[in-house]
Amino acid sequence: MGQASRQHAGNARRRPEDTGTACNTTPMRVLGIETSCDETGVAVYCTRDGLLGQALHSQVAMHERYGGVVPELASRDHIRRVLPLARQALGESGLSLAQIDAVAWTQGPGLAGALLVGSGVGASLAWALGRPGIGVHHLEGHLLSPLLADEAPQMPFVALLASGGHTQLMAVESIGRYRLLGDTLDDAAGEAFDKSAKLLGLGYPGGPALSKLGEAGRPGRFRLPRPLLHDDSLNFSFSGLKTAVRTAVGGGLADDAARADLALEVESAITEVLAAKAVRAVRASGCERLVIAGGVSANRQLRQRLAEAQRRQGFRCYFPPPALCTDNGAMIALAGALRLQAMAEAGHPAGIPSGFSVRPRWPLESLEPVTAQPG
Ligand code: KG4
Ligand code: ZN
Repeated sequence: MGQASRQHAGNARRRPEDTGTACNTTPMRVLGIETSCDETGVAVYCTRDGLLGQALHSQVAMHERYGGVVPELASRDHIRRVLPLARQALGESGLSLAQIDAVAWTQGPGLAGALLVGSGVGASLAWALGRPGIGVHHLEGHLLSPLLADEAPQMPFVALLASGGHTQLMAVESIGRYRLLGDTLDDAAGEAFDKSAKLLGLGYPGGPALSKLGEAGRPGRFRLPRPLLHDDSLNFSFSGLKTAVRTAVGGGLADDAARADLALEVESAITEVLAAKAVRAVRASGCERLVIAGGVSANRQLRQRLAEAQRRQGFRCYFPPPALCTDNGAMIALAGALRLQAMAEAGHPAGIPSGFSVRPRWPLESLEPVTAQPG
């Protein structure tokens, strides 16, 4: 990455009818805002016409020199970017602000200061427009992001959510009805990529850089552990991997070929465990659909492993569009739209926000499904 800003509108006019999430009511156009970490994303999603426009700015170039995200810098940059990006996303959608029916923003989990920016702007916009607003769970956005792909899954499905902060297997029955099947006991998969990349002298974020270096690698020179691969549970543990990588790096690797070989082995160790546990979760659930989401779902080797597994074992694997694997506004607009639609259909539509709060720590499995209110 590293480019100052990027914008994409892949699948822009995708229709949600095929996903089982289409509305029977009036279409709703939702402006979604993502500012939980180091990307500022804004998008417009329509429950009838799909993704209408989006704009994204990655802060990677700004944080790169510090080797990781600096929270205060992240918040200040979100403040600078969010309104111009909102104008850009609206411009692409061909809509004016007055034509937006509702606003959604990432309420958590994430960096508190960064979340405050998107939540403050989102709630204020909704209030000023006199439209409903909703705080969205960032991971629910990732979980539902494959619904923005050309081939979208029907619910129920099993989901592997692998990002910089989370590695979870979930049974997804309907919007908000998520059952935790497995979790990481320590580091997340993305964190294992990032920490190993740092030990290999690569920049931040480490996952894409390590994967790129590994393309030139050859298997066999190194052998790293596959933590909990043969354990019966659906849990993960990646913290031992970085210790093994540190030992392998030792006082320095002989040459660039050795660095590439080790990068390939790190990628293989992480993706072998992720793929094996995901397949085990699908088999145990009896469900035939597997969704992979979160930043690590962009990983080439993970995609290859799962493509092979689905051919051999007869289940279907679904990924978000590649540009929507990492953080973006489209997944927040989508998740917000689906929740708002479900609330309206259940007879308790969301109101105009009179304030906002953020939830930097917010377990996904604590989310409630939208149900009809008694009476
Ligand atoms: O979902 P995400 O953008 O942000 C969080 O919510 O954490 O995920 C970022 C994580 C980082 O750890 C990054 O290194 C990893 O996803 N990542 C990758 C790849 N692209 C992003 N890991 C492996 N291979 C990739 N191609
Ligand atoms: Zn994320």
